[in-house]
Amino acid sequence: MRLFLAIVLSEPMKDALIAAQNALYDRGVRGRWTGEENLHLTLAFIGESPDAAPVLDALAELRFAPFELQLEGLGCFGDLWWAGLRASAPLEALVRRTRRALADAGIPYDRKRFSPHITLLRNASGKLPPVRIEAASMAVEAVSLMRSDRGRNGMIYTELGRIPAET
Ligand code: 2AM
Repeated sequence: MRLFLAIVLSEPMKDALIAAQNALYDRGVRGRWTGEENLHLTLAFIGESPDAAPVLDALAELRFAPFELQLEGLGCFGDLWWAGLRASAPLEALVRRTRRALADAGIPYDRKRFSPHITLLRNASGKLPPVRIEAASMAVEAVSLMRSDRGRNGMIYTELGRIPAET
């Protein structure tokens, strides 16, 4: 199965992202839109792995305090368009420590530099229009271990476990 670590988004955060998708659609943009249930922020992509347990074991000692995430702007990697996040030292630290825990446990993951983004659509048509995204923020209270499966109508993401923040 394919695994990744992510932050599951709050409903108000998703509402702001859906509003941005709708605004893009109204401007004539077409593509493969990320469904509401699939909107997330990836921290580390592990990929094919036979078992989730070693990943949860590797992260058992991960300690972090809750922190705020704030949406900021839209951007693209080619025809993959995303919503960005305000620069956040706690987010960077969480990603660094999450990835370090995987590395220490010998669990391979995609080492591409972390570039915080929430994918809104793939195979986007045309050029990114100047659409504004609502201010929205949420408290990050857990890191989620997600499984990704190819469904008949797109990807299906299932949460397999979570590592809660210290409260
Ligand atoms: P994306 O949103 O930029 O496509 C599940 O596939 C999640 O892991 C997606 O959020 C995807 O990012 C991310 N991801 C990061 N690296 C990946 C890779 N090498 N292959 C597939 N997904 C990757």
